[in-house]
Amino acid sequence: MIIAANFKMNHTRASTVAYLRELNAFISNENISDEVMIFPPFTALDRFETPANLTVGVQNGYPAQKGSFTGEIGLEQIEEFGIDLILIGHSERRHILGEDQPFIAQKFDFFKEKGFRIVYCIGEPKEVRESGIDAVLAYNFKQLEGIDLSYEKLVVAYEPVWAIGTGLTASAEQIEETLSRLRDRIKAPLLYGGSVKPANTKEILEIENCDGVLVGTASWEVESFEKMLSISKNLKK
Ligand code: 13P
Repeated sequence: MIIAANFKMNHTRASTVAYLRELNAFISNENISDEVMIFPPFTALDRFETPANLTVGVQNGYPAQKGSFTGEIGLEQIEEFGIDLILIGHSERRHILGEDQPFIAQKFDFFKEKGFRIVYCIGEPKEVRESGIDAVLAYNFKQLEGIDLSYEKLVVAYEPVWAIGTGLTASAEQIEETLSRLRDRIKAPLLYGGSVKPANTKEILEIENCDGVLVGTASWEVESFEKMLSISKNLKK
């Protein structure tokens, strides 16, 4: 299983250090063997010492080594911290920051070329979900246009937009059906994201074709994230 925490625009440099110190101790004391990924904000990045199964990644990156891209962070800045894990295509970047599919595919190609592990996010808005599973799949497959699904360091996160930060989780049936249809085309690990919390982690992780979760809100408190790691540890799957 992959259990990932997306801090989004939360946590400071100081609180990220405290979070990772606590999490490192928890992972070794509790013999957590799942793969853990933490995506802090850029300002909190550092060369953190972590157990082998905990990887720190970036929430975004500009597809260039360096250059005149005001306000952006490129490969040179990311590599300074020894980071080779990136989140690409998150719905907040697509819908709030206006990233389109050609730009997202360009980012994917750039970071693939550099050998990064890529957690690539897809997910449909509410009105598409209300139109039924065929519309959902068509929408999600459009978000895979230009993406090399055979890339060996790819992880795909299915995060329905209407379930992100809303407290609304897709039902187990909706997740199961969507993941199984995505699985026809995607051999990479498949994560679910969207209001995952300790109370629903077990049910979600038990779903066929679900290889882990990408957690926002409920990951920001380290104790809550640790609860989800314990639930995954005790799962027989
Ligand atoms: P929430 O867990 O807050 O719904 O966010 C999910 C998400 O967007 C993770 O990337």
